[in-house]
Amino acid sequence: MTLAEFLNQLDELASSAQQQLEQAADLDALEAARIEFIGTKSGRLKATQKFLGEIEKTDKPAAGKRFNEVKTQIQAAYERQQQQMANNVGTGAGGEQFDPTIPGPRPRLGHLHPITQTIEELKNIMGRLGFSLAEGPEIEDEWHNFEALNIPLSHPARDPLDNFYLHVGETTHHQTLLMRSQTSTVQIRVMENTKPPVRIISLGRVYRPDTPDATHLPMFHQIEGLLIDRQVTMADLKSVLRLFASSYLGTDVHVRFRPSFFPFTEPSVEVDMRWNDKWIEMGGAGMVDPAVLQAVGYDPDEVTGFAFGLGIERLCARRHGIEDIREIYKNDVRFLHQF
Ligand code: PHE
Repeated sequence: MTLAEFLNQLDELASSAQQQLEQAADLDALEAARIEFIGTKSGRLKATQKFLGEIEKTDKPAAGKRFNEVKTQIQAAYERQQQQMANNVGTGAGGEQFDPTIPGPRPRLGHLHPITQTIEELKNIMGRLGFSLAEGPEIEDEWHNFEALNIPLSHPARDPLDNFYLHVGETTHHQTLLMRSQTSTVQIRVMENTKPPVRIISLGRVYRPDTPDATHLPMFHQIEGLLIDRQVTMADLKSVLRLFASSYLGTDVHVRFRPSFFPFTEPSVEVDMRWNDKWIEMGGAGMVDPAVLQAVGYDPDEVTGFAFGLGIERLCARRHGIEDIREIYKNDVRFLHQF
């Protein structure tokens, strides 16, 4: 064998060894390639070594040198490949490659429920208008939910079919408890405990046995406002509600006041806001009835005031374009994630 033929053979061996080692899909294939090329008993490199004896004496040093180079080259390629496989710890069952440097899926962060977010925002708006926060219990007595609000026992609003009464032991009607049907209860609780002037809001859950539909739920939230001072007028009520509506919904909102009736306000209005060219009833409002002021020990000749109660789900729905308020409580993360 001539030197040229020998070197040729070595080159071919080197390049096919390189290729096979690099293409080895798993450790078994890699080991098979190692044995094939540099196995000490019957590897192809070993087989080539035999031809070294046939090379002319003067060419031997060159042939031997190249032989050793190819040997180290293949050995190095094998080791490189082995190292790479060791790094790919997570190689799947099918032998597919796993790149540990690719960032993992981002964990989804939770956030406040849309209604909680709405409540926070409404508190802020009314806070800027000088209203402070008041609270009352969700389980109420009939005095705070009805009697003090000028709703006598004969009034249809007290019908057992329209309220969630709680039957606890033997009670007279004054002690009967119920899930509060309105946050107006908090007006009474605040006035019973403070002297005028009063300027509060209260936000919380109320309960009514209503059939759920796009604008009704048996449990929903109200924001109640109460302002008592000397010479408070209907004009004050209207400007506060207009300011409130434009702060929360934007300056393009239209607010409409329709004459209405509530036992605890006189005069009373229904408050509507326009959404997609549709008027939505947001709640009620009016000037606090003198009978209510008297019930809490205020002098109606000294002070007057206004009160309002609006549905928080409806405000939130109007703001975000939610067509059906039942969506808010389905707990579908695809829905909730949008807020
Ligand atoms: N409490 C009334 C309701 O729930 C709303 C209201 C509040 C009306 C304050 C007048 C004044 O329908």
